[in-house]
Amino acid sequence: MKIGVLAENQPGELRVALTPEAAAKLISDGHSVSVQREAGIGAGMVDAAYEAVGVTVADRASVLARAEVLLGVRGPGASDDPKPLLAQLDSGHTFIAVQDPLWRAKLMPTVADTGATLISLELIPRTTLAQSMDVLSSQATVAGYEAVLLAASKSPRMFPLLMTAAGTVPATRVLVLGAGVAGLQAIAIARKLGAIVSAYDIRPAAAEQIESLGARSVDLELDTSASEDKGGYAKAQGEDQAEVQKQKLAPHVAEADVLVTTAAIPGRRSPELVTAAMVEGMKPGSVIVDLAAERGGNVALTQADVEVVHHGVLVLGPTDLVSRSAATASQMFATNQVNLLRHLSDEHGNIAIDPNDEIASAIVVASGGQIVNDRVKEQLSL
Ligand code: NAI
Repeated sequence: MKIGVLAENQPGELRVALTPEAAAKLISDGHSVSVQREAGIGAGMVDAAYEAVGVTVADRASVLARAEVLLGVRGPGASDDPKPLLAQLDSGHTFIAVQDPLWRAKLMPTVADTGATLISLELIPRTTLAQSMDVLSSQATVAGYEAVLLAASKSPRMFPLLMTAAGTVPATRVLVLGAGVAGLQAIAIARKLGAIVSAYDIRPAAAEQIESLGARSVDLELDTSASEDKGGYAKAQGEDQAEVQKQKLAPHVAEADVLVTTAAIPGRRSPELVTAAMVEGMKPGSVIVDLAAERGGNVALTQADVEVVHHGVLVLGPTDLVSRSAATASQMFATNQVNLLRHLSDEHGNIAIDPNDEIASAIVVASGGQIVNDRVKEQLSL
């Protein structure tokens, strides 16, 4: 296949969809790879490193003209301004990227109109077989790590317990809300920095994972047994239950010096877990990092990419966390892409979507000008 890699044009996006190392694997599989000039520069991957493994480095128009398969980090659906990218796609392209097709479902018919086959990496099922292709997991790992580093750097307190000649300094208390992939990574890093960590997730199964990392699992004594869907994701709560959860969480939030929130529901606005009044109950100097900022946030006061100070509490909603470790994130993203391409390839090395394959059948959003994905159709009420 002729594979092309585009530079990301979203402000603050430093990742690249394919690293030189991953490109070398695709070339050894028999594909040809072209990469847009300086596509990897934000992740520290220079054009010469791509050329050294046999990649053709070219301008954007040439990459688009020769590629059958386009690899990106963010597709038009996940981009703030999808129009320039939409104008460049046509029926000769299969475009594989994070497309955000559930949250941005309304845009998908316009994307389908380009005629391109659109493959969305977030629709990969969360199964054992698909784990090596799962960009949600790999990128959430980076986000969880960076969230804690950001909190530690912004907090006026050091994390570990210090027993020194200048006195004893207590350890910082970190509370993590949402213990999926990002939350569990945040717990692990906060523990490594010496904080006292507790965490809460609506899915009862998360309690054991929280405790296996040496953190305390907060038990709100709520019946959340129906909170998990068959894919292992959280389902949206009813309003009454959400209200009780907030009331019961309030004293735990008030105790925390650092709060990291990561709760998400696929395709929906992030649930509000922390109200303004709960923030007011925290000590001045506390820091909140809200990973859910892109979809409205878990904290009522969060504003994406704005530093909000409320009653002395700093509320951060960064949307560029993954790009802060752009090399690591790109390395994992690219490995996910290579594993997916290998999974989708037929014996001639071409992409063949087998409707009986659990992964292939889940990830195609649009093909031949039509929306073909059931989850996206459902979101559009088609
Ligand atoms: P996510 O990013 O969709 O959500 C983050 C966390 O927020 C989840 O753990 C969710 O339960 C929690 N949450 C949602 N609403 C909440 C609320 N109201 N209060 C408290 N917490 C709330 O989740 P992520 O990280 O993508 O993982 C989702 C599930 O998928 C997990 O069970 C994870 O173990 C599983 N998974 C399975 C994989 C596989 O088998 N290949 C790979 C990765 C994850």
